Amino acid sequence: MVAIARFVARFVAILLLDLRPITFKIARGLGQLGVECAKYLRGKYGRENVILSDIIKPTTEVFNDGPYIFADILDFKGLQKIVVDHRVDWLIHFSALLSAIGEQNVPLAVRVNIEGMHNVIELAKQYRLRIFVPSTIGAFGPDSPRNPTPNITVQRPRTIYGVSKVHAELLGEYYYYKFGLDFRCLRFPGVISSDPPGGGTTDYAIAIFHDVLRKGRYECYLRPDTRLPMMHVKDALRALSNFLEAPNKMLHRRVYNVTSMSFTPEELADHMFKYIPDFSISYKPDSRQDIADSWPQVFDDSEARRDWNWKPEVDLDNLVKLMLKEVKEKINDYDY
Ligand SMILES: *[C@@H]1O[C@H](CO)[C@@H](O)[C@H](O)[C@H]1NC(C)=O
Ligand SMILES: *[C@@H]1O[C@H](CO)[C@@H](O)[C@H](O)[C@H]1NC(C)=O
Repeated sequence: MVAIARFVARFVAILLLDLRPITFKIARGLGQLGVECAKYLRGKYGRENVILSDIIKPTTEVFNDGPYIFADILDFKGLQKIVVDHRVDWLIHFSALLSAIGEQNVPLAVRVNIEGMHNVIELAKQYRLRIFVPSTIGAFGPDSPRNPTPNITVQRPRTIYGVSKVHAELLGEYYYYKFGLDFRCLRFPGVISSDPPGGGTTDYAIAIFHDVLRKGRYECYLRPDTRLPMMHVKDALRALSNFLEAPNKMLHRRVYNVTSMSFTPEELADHMFKYIPDFSISYKPDSRQDIADSWPQVFDDSEARRDWNWKPEVDLDNLVKLMLKEVKEKINDYDY
């Protein structure tokens, strides 16, 4: 096993199950952040040092990219075996049903998001693993004060996704204080990548590129003025990797907010018109509007900037340019 810098270099990015309910709709599904994250970390720490896992069969591309194994987040013994067999040191736990899809599958979301968390945190404790769990702006709710925003604020989300993420944040902090577990958690805004959307409320900002490039039009499920915090996946991965590498003494908390920008569907479309003058957009809000309305519109990540020098690089204009290029490539490659 190769040691890199001061780290023991092994990760398991477990991203199980999260697309189970929609695997059938999206031919090439695997966690949105997970696959990109594995690629990124492999580039940094070596191909063999990052193991990706899921319960679904990998695409050829994912399989060829590096070690890929089966792991079921609900099978504790199976997870123990993986940690032992592969001498795992770090655990990155992406498994989750996202906000919109979770509302349609509450019992499954409870199992994957909550029971799954119980398994991985206990696993991390038993084997002294470092553990990273992503959280979300969805961990806030309509009762969270928007102005002023205290450093620690009311978190009473109204989605099962949000509830499970607050649970994960609290459990992780508890294991840190009680057992000294190196638990780290970032609250991400909507993460925009060229992969097809995975069932989140901020996914319109991905779907719009796919639909506009394929069909020249998009029907948005949120109102044009719905402002939400967002970031390009490049920034999300940089945040993740900077945060994982930050020495413990720099951290004042185990859970940090990170974001890059906030925009509305209308502002995004206006930016896209600069590059594609000819497309149409219409608005037909559905139940996802209620979810969006309960989330922070602007996300305060000043503590991440102060404590471990977080700084986003991709702004709205760059995001649009990157997405147009990347989604075009995906469409050409897969012709779906
Ligand atoms: C938030 O945290 C910072 C740094 O710890 C502190 O200076 C500031 O006073 C806090 N703000 C509030 C409203 O508690
Ligand atoms: C996280 O974001 C919320 C919403 O913007 C804000 O109220 C809170 O102060 C932030 N917390 C930290 C620790 O940065």
